[in-house]
Amino acid sequence: MIIGVLKETQKGDNRVAITPKIAKQLIEKGFDVRVEEDAGANSSYKNSDYSKAGASIRTKEDLFKNSDILIKINPFDNKELEKLKKGQIVIAQLFHKSHPNDMKIIAERGATAYSMDAMPRISRAQDMDVLSSQNNLAGYKAVIKGAYEMTKIFPLMMTAAGTISPARVLVYGVGVAGLQAIATAKRLGAIVEATDIRTETKEQAESLGAKFILVDNNGEESEGGYAKVASEDYARRQKEAVDKSLFKADLVITTAMVPGRRSPLLITEEQVKQMQNGAVIIDLAAAQGGNCELSVMNKTVVKHGVKIIGTTIAPESVSTNASDLYAKNTFNYLVHLTEGNQFKWDLEDQITDETLIVYNGTIRQNGKTS
Ligand code: NAI
Repeated sequence: MIIGVLKETQKGDNRVAITPKIAKQLIEKGFDVRVEEDAGANSSYKNSDYSKAGASIRTKEDLFKNSDILIKINPFDNKELEKLKKGQIVIAQLFHKSHPNDMKIIAERGATAYSMDAMPRISRAQDMDVLSSQNNLAGYKAVIKGAYEMTKIFPLMMTAAGTISPARVLVYGVGVAGLQAIATAKRLGAIVEATDIRTETKEQAESLGAKFILVDNNGEESEGGYAKVASEDYARRQKEAVDKSLFKADLVITTAMVPGRRSPLLITEEQVKQMQNGAVIIDLAAAQGGNCELSVMNKTVVKHGVKIIGTTIAPESVSTNASDLYAKNTFNYLVHLTEGNQFKWDLEDQITDETLIVYNGTIRQNGKTS
C-alpha cells in the first residue's frame, strides 16, 4: 500500500506526521512511503533524510493521485478535501465533532477517514494517543515559556543582596499537560497549586508536589476519562475557591478542555484585573476558545498589567520532539489497524470502532453506522 505523507498547511504548525525514522520502519513493514516535498523542513527533517530512509519525495498532486493512505496531523483543508478519491484512506486529527462538514465531504468523495483525536482513553491505546504525546510536551514547554515571559525567577534564592521568594504557579486542569506543567514548575523551584473538576486528579497533583485546590463537583464526574461540561454552580464555586491563589500567582497555566466543546471559561476579565501586575497567563486551551476571557490564539495580549499568551505550544515550538512522538503514535496505530500490509476493518475492536469516522463513504457515529 502507498502511504502519502502530506505537509501541514495550517499556519504556524511546524510538525510532520511521519519522520524519516518512522518512514523507514513503515517501509520495513512493507509499505511504500512517499513524502510531500519539504514536509519535514520545519521540524528539522530534510528531504534527503527521507530519501536516505527509503521514502520518495513527491508533489502534493502526486500524493493525492496515487496514495492509498494519506497521513497528516491537522484536519484536511478544503482544497485537500476536494482532491480525495474514492477508496482513499485518510488518517489525521480530524476533530470530527467540530468539523461535521468535512466529514460530509469525505463521505461524498467515497473516502474513508480515521481520526487520531478520537482514540479511546484505554490502556492498550496509550501508545497511539496523540493528544497525550503532544500535550505532555506542551505542559513542559508552557512552563519554560512562562519563565522567559515572567520578570521573576522560579526558585527561592538567598543572596548577599537579599532573599528572593519563590514564584507562585497556578495550574488549571490536571490532565496530561497540567501534570507535566506541575512537574516542570516544581523542578524549577516554584510553589505550585493546581485545580481540576475531576477530583481523582487531587492525588496525582499532590504526588508531584502541588497543593490541590479541591472544589466540590457535586458528582459532575468525568465521562470516558474526560471532564464533562461544568455547571454554572460549579464555575461559581471554583472561582470562590481559586481566586485567592489566582490573585497571588506569578504564572498561571490553563489547560482545561472538554472534547468537542468550547474550552471552559475559567478566568474572566474581572479576575484578570485583580491579578498581580506583571503576572503571566499561558492559555493552552486558546485554540478551542480559551480558558481566559482575554486570550487570543497565537497572540500575546497585555491587559490590566497581565501578559496573556494563547498557544498550543507543541506545533510551533517543540516541533522536532512533537513530530517524533506523533509519528511513533501513528506507526503503532497503523500496525494495530493492519495485518500483512492490509487493513483488518475489525469493527468489533474498540480502537477501530471509535476512531473510524467515515467508512467507504458513510459517516459513522459512536461506533454505529448512521
Ligand atoms: P483534556 O485535555 O481533555 O483536559 C485537561 C484537563 O482539564 C482535564 O484533566 C479535565 O478534567 C480538566 N477540566 C475540564 N473542564 C474543567 C473545568 N471546568 N475546570 C477545571 N478543570 C477542567 O484532558 P487530558 O489531558 O486529555 O486527560 C484526560 C484524562 O484522560 C486524564 O485522566 C488522563 O490521565 C487520561 N488519559 C488516559 C489515557 C489512556 O489511558 N490511554 C491517555 C491519555 C490521557
